[in-house]
Amino acid sequence: MGMANRENFPLVPFFYFFCMLGFVFIPTEASVKKYQFNVQVTNVSRLCHTKPIVTVNGMFPGPTIYVREGDRVLINVTNSAQYNMSIHWHGLKQYRNGWADGPAYITQCPIKTGNSYVYDFNVTVQRGTLWWHAHIFWLRATVYGAIVIMPKQGTPFPFPQPEREETILLGEWWNNDVEELVNQGNKLGLPPNMSDAHTINGKPGPLFPCSDKHTFAMEVEQGKTYLLRIINAALNDELFFAIAGHNLTVVEVDAVYTKPFTTQAILIAPGQTTNVLVQASQVPSRYFMAARPFMDAPLSIDNKTATAMLQYKGIPNTVLPILPQLPALNDTNFALSYNAKLRSLNSPQFPANVPLKVDRHLFYTIGLGINPCPTCLNGTQLIASLNNITFVMPQMGLLQAHYFNIKGVFRTDFPDRPPTPFNYTGAPLTANLGTTLGTRLSKIAFNSTVELVLQDTNLLSVESHPFHLHGYNFFVVGTGVGNFNPSKDPAKFNLVDPPERNTVGVPTGGWTAMRFRADNPGVWFMHCHLELHTSWGLKTAFVVENGKGVDQSVLPPPKDLPLC
Ligand SMILES: *[C@@H]1O[C@H](CO)[C@@H](O)[C@H](O)[C@H]1NC(C)=O
Ligand SMILES: *[C@@H]1O[C@H](CO)[C@@H](O)[C@H](O)[C@H]1NC(C)=O
Ligand SMILES: *[C@@H]1O[C@H](CO)[C@@H](O)[C@H](O)[C@H]1NC(C)=O
Ligand SMILES: *[C@@H]1O[C@H](CO)[C@@H](O)[C@H](O)[C@H]1NC(C)=O
Ligand SMILES: *[C@@H]1O[C@H](CO)[C@@H](O)[C@H](O)[C@H]1NC(C)=O
Ligand SMILES: *[C@@H]1O[C@H](CO)[C@@H](O)[C@H](O)[C@H]1NC(C)=O
Ligand SMILES: *[C@@H]1O[C@H](CO)[C@@H](O)[C@H](O)[C@H]1NC(C)=O
Ligand SMILES: *[C@@H]1O[C@H](CO)[C@@H](O)[C@H](O)[C@H]1NC(C)=O
Ligand SMILES: *[C@@H]1O[C@H](CO)[C@@H](O)[C@H](O)[C@H]1NC(C)=O
Ligand SMILES: *[C@@H]1O[C@H](CO)[C@@H](O)[C@H](O)[C@H]1NC(C)=O
Ligand SMILES: *[C@@H]1O[C@H](CO)[C@@H](O)[C@H](O)[C@H]1NC(C)=O
Ligand SMILES: *[C@@H]1O[C@H](CO)[C@@H](O)[C@H](O)[C@H]1NC(C)=O
Repeated sequence: MGMANRENFPLVPFFYFFCMLGFVFIPTEASVKKYQFNVQVTNVSRLCHTKPIVTVNGMFPGPTIYVREGDRVLINVTNSAQYNMSIHWHGLKQYRNGWADGPAYITQCPIKTGNSYVYDFNVTVQRGTLWWHAHIFWLRATVYGAIVIMPKQGTPFPFPQPEREETILLGEWWNNDVEELVNQGNKLGLPPNMSDAHTINGKPGPLFPCSDKHTFAMEVEQGKTYLLRIINAALNDELFFAIAGHNLTVVEVDAVYTKPFTTQAILIAPGQTTNVLVQASQVPSRYFMAARPFMDAPLSIDNKTATAMLQYKGIPNTVLPILPQLPALNDTNFALSYNAKLRSLNSPQFPANVPLKVDRHLFYTIGLGINPCPTCLNGTQLIASLNNITFVMPQMGLLQAHYFNIKGVFRTDFPDRPPTPFNYTGAPLTANLGTTLGTRLSKIAFNSTVELVLQDTNLLSVESHPFHLHGYNFFVVGTGVGNFNPSKDPAKFNLVDPPERNTVGVPTGGWTAMRFRADNPGVWFMHCHLELHTSWGLKTAFVVENGKGVDQSVLPPPKDLPLC
């Protein structure tokens, strides 16, 4: 363990200290884990700039939530910052318990300055790496951390026990205040300035100015195997990640075990997690870990490389590290073939229960566009839409409106397919770029099976979009380039061992098909996990109805649920 990452140690759970120090400490039984999250403003220096950022407990990245499958988790979030706050536990299913999901104005009103809210949830039938982040405006730029769920007592990993494990949080850093940048972008109707750096565990690494001491280092011993829990917490960039001289064996994505496969680099979209095994099999030296974006659309992006160190024990800091070769920024082939290698483990113990029969077929187009904006510089603003609808955020929590049957907050007439079919990925469509505004949701019957095909379009530009569904995992049964063909493509679906995830990339100018069983009642957000696109309206939500059974309806709201 390099001393360089000392400031990343969480202060709350003591057992986590032992893990970080190299002991394998395993809490004995399912229990109640309590955390105190104080949202506050902290001065942080990076890239020769010092600026106040919003943090949890003064830490950047924030503390790791370290629990075991079956635990009950109580996180008391106290907001001492000047911004409204809410926190999402990304990938946790929150069965019947959307009240603890966190997206502002979807499942709760924000926690106002000076107030607290206790997120109270059970970790049920899930184990692996997830993460938490602010889910209001762009505050997740600095408010994020890892969630590690250990398997149940006595249940080993379905791969060799690693010597030690480490969380690797990939992020994006801006020298200026992020909310100010977003406000400026909104005024202009344009994207805000791109980030100034990418980071690994909050640190950009020595390829950036003033960053020698802002380099994350992990010490390893030759011959031993380590588990890296990699999380993409960046706002807008899909990233490649590699370690010089070392292959990575992928064993889990989005807290679901995969069939292991070995690769020189991984691709990870914002919102996704990937667990890899790394064998320290090389000549003892210093090797760079590196992360840099993937972008195969004609759009400008922060293309800078973040680095961290994999340092063999006993090797002095004076040894020059070696950089890994990452795929080219626009390497579409690498991206497609990497994603094609992902398969669920699908063992008797961890089966892939893919819905074979579909009750409800949904087809959503993803569009970028330009709407009028009288207050914007040129009278127009960039927007985004699903099935030509730009989502308008409501003034109160949608789950609250659903639970208490408050009328007029949202409609349930989100269309199952686009209003007018067209050649989605055909020649650039510059006409009819306007969209309809609305808070429109889709109503789904309890325990029905849903197939959703997300289709990218060439409206304004094609682009890769990582979509995240709250409250569920889904199976990624198919994907392709060009227009989805409903008569030919389903025959090629993988219904045996498709990857099971909570966030999936829709390829640039292509489509992705997912299936899930709607057995979790509530209101569940679905959105592009590029914050830029979320803020432009690339989002909607599902209202999953209650079932008839006693334990098939939304739980009553907690007494301390924040109100608007
Ligand atoms: C951050 O630094 C500025 C300038 O040095 C100082 O005025 C401010 O009080 C500091 N804020 C915090 C939260 O420490
Ligand atoms: C949450 O934390 C705040 C601030 O420390 C405290 O006042 C409040 O009592 C806590 N809530 C609970 C339920 O423990
Ligand atoms: C969590 O599990 C406990 C014990 O089974 C139960 O009492 C509680 O209601 C559950 N909480 C939620 C939010 O499901
Ligand atoms: C965004 O970048 C432009 C051009 O470099 C600069 O003039 C502007 O001040 C930046 N905006 C903010 C909010 O930092
Ligand atoms: C990594 O994998 C490549 C391709 O399979 C192989 O050629 C190479 O020898 C491997 N490197 C190590 C260090 O195992
Ligand atoms: C990175 O982007 C800059 C402009 O922002 C460009 O000048 C440079 O060539 C790009 N580098 C690569 C490797 O694409
Ligand atoms: C990728 O970018 C490089 C450098 O900008 C360019 O030469 C190459 O043609 C691009 N490849 C594709 C497939 O677009
Ligand atoms: C506004 O329009 C002018 C002239 O058409 C153009 O040069 C400029 O880039 C536009 N600015 C924005 C913010 O759209
Ligand atoms: C859609 O547009 C593409 C690109 O222009 C074209 O090759 C294709 O034939 C079109 N498809 C249909 C069905 O018109
Ligand atoms: C989207 O809706 C707008 C406003 O109703 C309409 O003008 C436009 O033609 C629609 N575009 C598509 C692609 O359906
Ligand atoms: C949902 O439907 C499946 C298939 O009919 C059934 O096996 C399962 O028990 C149902 N689940 C619930 C919670 O009703
Ligand atoms: C904070 O949230 C409350 C409740 O929704 C809202 O009334 C208020 O305008 C928000 N404040 C800011 C600064 O967004």
